[in-house]
Amino acid sequence: MSEVKKIAVLTSGGDSQGMNAAVRAVVRSALYRGLEVYGVQRGFQGLLNQDLRPMDLRSVGDIIQRGGTILQTARCKEFMTPEGQQRGADVLREQGIDGLVVIGGDGSYQGANKLSKLGIKTMGLPGTIDNDIPFTDFTIGFDTAVSIVVDAINKLRDTMTSHERSSIVEVMGRHCGDIALYAGLASGAEAILVPEVPFDLKDISLRMKENFQKGKRHGIVVVAEGVCSGDEVARSITEYSGIEPRVTVLGHIQRGGSPTHNDRILASQLADFAVQRLLEGDSGKGIGIIKGEFVATDIEKVVSTKKSFNLDLYNLALRLAQ
Ligand code: ADP
Ligand code: F6P
Repeated sequence: MSEVKKIAVLTSGGDSQGMNAAVRAVVRSALYRGLEVYGVQRGFQGLLNQDLRPMDLRSVGDIIQRGGTILQTARCKEFMTPEGQQRGADVLREQGIDGLVVIGGDGSYQGANKLSKLGIKTMGLPGTIDNDIPFTDFTIGFDTAVSIVVDAINKLRDTMTSHERSSIVEVMGRHCGDIALYAGLASGAEAILVPEVPFDLKDISLRMKENFQKGKRHGIVVVAEGVCSGDEVARSITEYSGIEPRVTVLGHIQRGGSPTHNDRILASQLADFAVQRLLEGDSGKGIGIIKGEFVATDIEKVVSTKKSFNLDLYNLALRLAQ
């Protein structure tokens, strides 16, 4: 087993709050353990462009509280090809780098898996607001994104209540309804529309009308973008009930701002665990936390498994939304 002496870290795909905290923890954990660390600028694109720089303690100072990623991120088509992946592995070998930590979402994990198959010791850290990576209860950035949505709904509720109106709030989540689910439950939403569970818009519209008639002064529907647009939901509600909801699309605001303490701590712990595993000679793993335990799962298994949806939480939200 070859010893790991020099590692690199990159951020890839959609950014998320807490990526900086993860970069900082990778760099400082590695330096603490006597390793050399390089930062790759702009994800896999930067790897192909050989855009690497040595990282020291000060290079990751004053970033734990910042959104975005100091390493920048990118989407790289060339890296989707076997030739691109081979070149990526070659660049790492030419630079004498023995291990790579990839911080990103499911697409970035696919890339990390390819590099691992080409013999590079690779670790994936789940950096995405969507919480759509399996074998971890939470991804880095999810907690902050949910807080942003909850804060927005709190504000919407004030004006909704004054006007006795309803609001449709469209949130991120192309294939995963977790942001909608957690934010919807935490905000007392009347309905939560997610790609994982079928729903009946006529039923939701008529229930909303009845609730207004019974004295409720606001109605909130949270819809994950992967289901349909907020405008489409609003049109259906108007058609079935005559109610004219206002639509708010939160968009990329959900991906910015200072990470919550939960995301900073999660990022720090997972990154430290990843570095430790690399030093122990482990590779080709996706790092996560399950019921408080840190876990390293074969990245091949991570990318070929769909994250299960928390139906208990969904049903709880339904029971409480009356
Ligand atoms: P995320 O990591 O947020 O899901 P993307 O899906 O855009 O973001 O993926 C980020 C990058 O990961 C892509 O631009 C590409 O370079 C790389 N990637 C995605 N899928 C694959 C794949 N199947 N094989 C190799 N690289 C991939
Ligand atoms: O980071 C994941 C995600 O936020 C998805 O929920 C969303 O659809 C997508 O990224 C949009 O990202 P971009 O605009 O960067 O393509």
